[in-house]
Amino acid sequence: MGTMIYAHRGASKLAPENTMPAFELAYHAGADGIETDVQLTKDGIPILIHDENVRRTTNGTGFVQDYTYKELKKLDAGSWFSSKFSDTPIVTLDEFLDWVQDKSMFLNIELKNNVIPYKHLEQTVYDHLKKYQLLEQTVISSFNASSMERMKDIDPNISTALLSSKKIPELPGHLKRIGVTGFHTKYRLLNSNLAKTCRKHNLALRIYTVNRPTQMKKCFKLKCDGVFTDVPHLAMEYRELYE
Ligand code: G3P
Ligand code: MG
Repeated sequence: MGTMIYAHRGASKLAPENTMPAFELAYHAGADGIETDVQLTKDGIPILIHDENVRRTTNGTGFVQDYTYKELKKLDAGSWFSSKFSDTPIVTLDEFLDWVQDKSMFLNIELKNNVIPYKHLEQTVYDHLKKYQLLEQTVISSFNASSMERMKDIDPNISTALLSSKKIPELPGHLKRIGVTGFHTKYRLLNSNLAKTCRKHNLALRIYTVNRPTQMKKCFKLKCDGVFTDVPHLAMEYRELYE
């Protein structure tokens, strides 16, 4: 298997991130997978949003954790991007999984719990993936190492990855102690040594956010396991050329 192309927050260059139009575009671009970020509402419903505060990507203000699901659903998560997407709602994890279920796409569910340590986020996401029978095609990731340890306790067979934008000394040992099987890191930290180390230790290496052709080329040449891109349609084209 070559480098897998994950649409980062959906096809987020072409439509508002983490919304159904962005996911639909990723699917139609032929992306292998979709990456999305999950947080919990005040009443414990998992929803897809990147920032802890709704300000940047909706017409609301304040923290996700202070909104009930019903309140959040009233927000417009599309107009900030373009008037073409006005009144696009925030998507729940349930709605997303229901949509993706029959599409044979891979998933990366990123738990956004490194700033706000949402209680039971791991179990909630796990139960949803199980309900839709999507555990096998999903990798769960987080910048929060303890969260990934909890995930492994829930199910030692699920594929997990630690996210880091910093260089980690003695990476294989560190990842092994946490119990993850993958490492998701920033493009600027990618080099042939990192690729070699991960391969040697059987750790999946996936890179974000890969939007430029030169970056794509390097990821494909180094045989990274995956890239996260805002422009999956371009990545699909370049993979044909470079792989
Ligand atoms: O999961 C890869 C990437 O999405 C991590 O960073 O901030 O875009 O969620 P961020
Ligand atoms: Mg993310």
